[in-house]
Parts: sequence; structure tokens; C-alpha cells
Amino acid sequence: MKAIVTGGSGFIGSNVVKLLLEKNYEVKVIDNLSSGHYANIEKYVKNANVEFAQGDVCDKDFVNNAMQYGADVVFHLAACVGRQKSIDNPQLDSSTNLIGTINVLEGMRNNGIPRIVYSSSAAIFGELVTPTIDENHPQNADSPYGVSKLAAEKMILAYSGIYPELTGVCLRYFNIYGVNQRFDLYGNVIPIFAKRIYSGEPITIFGDGSQTRDFVNVKDVARANYLGAVSTLGTDVYNLGSGSSITINQLADMMIKIAGKNTQIIYAPERPADVKHCKANANKAKEKLGFEAQVSLESGLEEYMKWYRDNCV
Ligand SMILES: NC(=O)c1ccc[n+]([C@@H]2O[C@H](COP(=O)([O-])OP(=O)(O)OC[C@H]3O[C@@H](n4cnc5c(N)ncnc54)[C@H](O)[C@@H]3O)[C@@H](O)[C@H]2O)c1
Repeated sequence: MKAIVTGGSGFIGSNVVKLLLEKNYEVKVIDNLSSGHYANIEKYVKNANVEFAQGDVCDKDFVNNAMQYGADVVFHLAACVGRQKSIDNPQLDSSTNLIGTINVLEGMRNNGIPRIVYSSSAAIFGELVTPTIDENHPQNADSPYGVSKLAAEKMILAYSGIYPELTGVCLRYFNIYGVNQRFDLYGNVIPIFAKRIYSGEPITIFGDGSQTRDFVNVKDVARANYLGAVSTLGTDVYNLGSGSSITINQLADMMIKIAGKNTQIIYAPERPADVKHCKANANKAKEKLGFEAQVSLESGLEEYMKWYRDNCV
């Protein structure tokens, strides 16, 4: 089997590549390295059957040529990622996330590639109005990022209606963490806490820390991508989470304990945009794709903290 992974040198993409190699796929990575790291896949390019094409999904000729590799499936993860980044640069966000997705779909069509597994986001929902989020939750994306990820989903659904030979799944991720997730300016809570814990700085929690989140390990997300690729079901959308949630206070305590540090926790005023409770209802992914999160938060965090200490400190 052959696969193309766009955004394959990023956090999630590199974990997808790793799993595909374990499943004996031949893999080609397409990435412009704007937020990904070649180091994430260097060993696979050197030692395994992985090709690397550096380029931009906004360049339709580049995408089309890269897809002449031929493949059974495209895992499309290349994106401009995150709410604040999209507010800072909405043109880059939409051209990467929407036009880039059209270029990928056209490249697939031109090269006879039949299936796409698309990395979507819970950002498509906008403000969350129920504590547990299923696929039918209102979709009122409230950032350029949420809009572009939703538009890309809709584009995939439209393409598969127009071209029935092209099918795919859109996986809407909630909070993902794990190996290869580095701290950046737009970072998620787990890398932010890891950075603070290891650099001896206090952790800041907004509000009283009783807000809850659903964290799913990237190994589980990679497996969901694989299940989406091999499923024979038609095009559809799926929410993807662990199905359980913990408070931010519990998360901080777990991470501090695992690191064996004495980190101070500072409480700051609640941020108005923060939702109180957020958990994915992943029943549809379970019923249709056979997906269930397998990595416990405790073991996933232990692995992550060790990786962070060895690679980022
Ligand atoms: N990390 C999360 O919690 C999360 C949550 C929801 C959805 N997602 C989605 O998952 C996917 C992967 O996200 P990630 O967290 O691994 O982020 P990431 O930034 O590590 O990965 C994105 C990858 O895409 C590449 N890329 C960006 N623009 C490109 C372009 N124009 N052409 C080619 N490559 C380009 C980057 O270099 C990077 O390797 C994204 O589609 C994102 O929207 C992530």
C-alpha cells in the first residue's frame, strides 16, 4: 500500500507516518516545513521507505507533480493551524486550508487516488453550547481557522458527491497531545505546562481550574487516521476524542508529579472566550470506524514528559 501524507513532518503527521511504516506502507511526505520539523521524519527518510517533497500545498503544480507518486490514500494534514494564527493572518489561513485542500483533491483526481483522510478540527463548531459535542452540534465557526477547516470539510463532501470514485473521512480533533508536540507561540496547554515545569517557572491557570477538557493521545489519533483509510464506508465526518475529560487542575497536578518538580500554580482571571466544559462524543467513530482511544492520559503524559525533557529542554 502507498500513502501520501501532507503536513507529514508536523506533530500529528509525523506520528501518522510512523504508524503507516509499522503497517508496511510506502509513504511520501509533502510539507513546506513552515511549522513542521524535518527532524520528526529524518530517520524515516534515511532508513525506511519514505520520500520527502518539500513544497507548498498552495502551489497546484507542485501538488499535482508530487501526487504522480500514486497512492491508495492521501492523509491531508498540511494546514495553517490555530485560532490566533488565523486571526493574525487570515489570508494565509484560508489559502493554505481551503485552496490547499482543493489542490490536494484535484491532484488526487488527476492521479487516480481514491481516498482522503482529512484532519479537521473541533474549531468548526465555534462557541460550544453543550458540554458533550457530537457531530450534530451547531457549526458556528468563530475564527478564520474554524471557517477554513469547515469549508475544507464541505469541499471534500462536495467533491465526493461530484466524483463518486473519490471518498474520504473528515476527523474532527479535539485536544491532542503527545510526542513531537513542541511549544510554540500559539501552543496548546500541555506543551505550555511542560515548558514551564521544566524551566522552573510557575504555571498559570485561568479561572479556578475546574474547567474540563478531553485530551486524546496522538498515537490514538494516528490509529484513527489508519482506520479511516482502510474503512470501506463512504464519505463522512467524525468527532474524535478520548470520550473522557479531566479538569485543568488535575492535568497540572499530574504533569508536575510526573516531572517530579515543585512547580508553583498561579491562578489568573478566567478568559471570557474559554468554555467551561468540553468533551467529544466519539460514539460515531466507535460504531463506524471501530475507533476507541487506548492510551490512558497518565501513560501518555509520562511518555510525553520524558520526550519533552529529552528533546526540548
Ligand atoms: N494539534 C491539535 O490539537 C489539532 C487539533 C485539531 C485539528 N488539528 C489539525 O491537524 C492537522 C495537523 O496539525 P498539527 O497539530 O500536527 O500541526 P503542525 O503545525 O505540527 O502540522 C502542520 C504541518 O503542515 C505543514 N504545512 C503548513 N502549511 C503548509 C503548506 N502551505 N504546504 C505544505 N505544508 C504545510 C507544516 O509545516 C506542518 O508540518 C492540521 O490540519 C490541524 O488543523 C490539530
